[in-house]
Amino acid sequence: MTPTPPAPSDIARARCATGVCLGVEGVGDDRVEVRLTCPEVAELARPGEFCQLQVGPGPVPLLRRPFSVCRADPEGGVLAFYLGVVGEGTARLAALRRGDRVGVLGPLGRGFTVPDPPATLLMVAGGLGAAPFPLLAQACHRRGVALAWLNGAASAGRLYPAERLGAPVASHCATEDGSRGARGLLTDILGPLLATADRVAACGPNRMLAQVASIVAEATPRVPLEVSLEAPMGCGFGTCLGCAVPVRAGDGARALALCCRTGPVMAAERVDWSRLLALPPAHAA
Ligand SMILES: Cc1cc2nc3c(=O)[nH]c(=O)nc-3n(C[C@H](O)[C@H](O)[C@H](O)COP(=O)(O)OP(=O)(O)OC[C@H]3O[C@@H](n4cnc5c(N)ncnc54)[C@H](O)[C@@H]3O)c2cc1C
Ligand code: FES
Repeated sequence: MTPTPPAPSDIARARCATGVCLGVEGVGDDRVEVRLTCPEVAELARPGEFCQLQVGPGPVPLLRRPFSVCRADPEGGVLAFYLGVVGEGTARLAALRRGDRVGVLGPLGRGFTVPDPPATLLMVAGGLGAAPFPLLAQACHRRGVALAWLNGAASAGRLYPAERLGAPVASHCATEDGSRGARGLLTDILGPLLATADRVAACGPNRMLAQVASIVAEATPRVPLEVSLEAPMGCGFGTCLGCAVPVRAGDGARALALCCRTGPVMAAERVDWSRLLALPPAHAA
């Protein structure tokens, strides 16, 4: 059954703040964690929500870039983002130095459900899609929810270290070159892990998410799956309409939803996967 469309996110929760860089730490190969002091946003951010980060002081690049909140420490007022360099904006963020200032707009979007115990949540992360899971893992652990972790990447150096999740997890991984865990894609080993999961939360490239959705629907249709979608985001708060993604309306009709307001986290059955994957690369990458 197609679920009722969720209410759009509450943009009144977002703050337009200035973060101050505390440092940029290398995480494995070609990945970094950028830590910012930003108490206004750190106290509000929930798992799966994102921020739009200003990537430079001048007009170019003009647009802020969206990044999932990886960690938020309300006591210390610290926010962290996990990213890889794919273009100018991410290169600038990875090159930040301690004391540099960064415009932060957030938290934005709808995040992941933190289940009630007793439950086991399986978190499925492809590549940089690991970004939202430390915050989700910590929220679940505090609530007494058991966690399983399935991470896939091209090679061992691009896996997200399970110990950085900040919560105990049953950990599984797959690498395309076989340098750690199973050789191949995470979707190759997902099926058996579903037997013990009460819910699944997934983040990664949209093509991976489509496969995860197909496997979960086939193997365990009773298990709710939430996916954090990728879409090109100009504004992040519902104005530019650039992030529209195809969804199934309640009556099965074709519809569009703004990923920045009714996502990025959506119920998998709401997404119209074949139309999503037919979109240009920033959607299907
Ligand atoms: C809600 C959300 C959360 C995200 N969280 C993270 C995160 O935690 N860590 C992380 O590393 N990345 C994340 N991304 C992707 C990140 O926003 C893009 O990689 C970034 O905007 C690229 O900026 P750039 O200037 O470096 O590259 P650009 O020069 O703008 O683009 C370089 C390449 O990246 C692709 N790209 C650009 N924007 C996106 C996008 N939104 N989705 C997919 N591909 C894109 C382009 O098609 C192009 O091929 C997230 C995206 C969304 C929508
Ligand atoms: S990013 Fe502008 S409307 Fe969603």
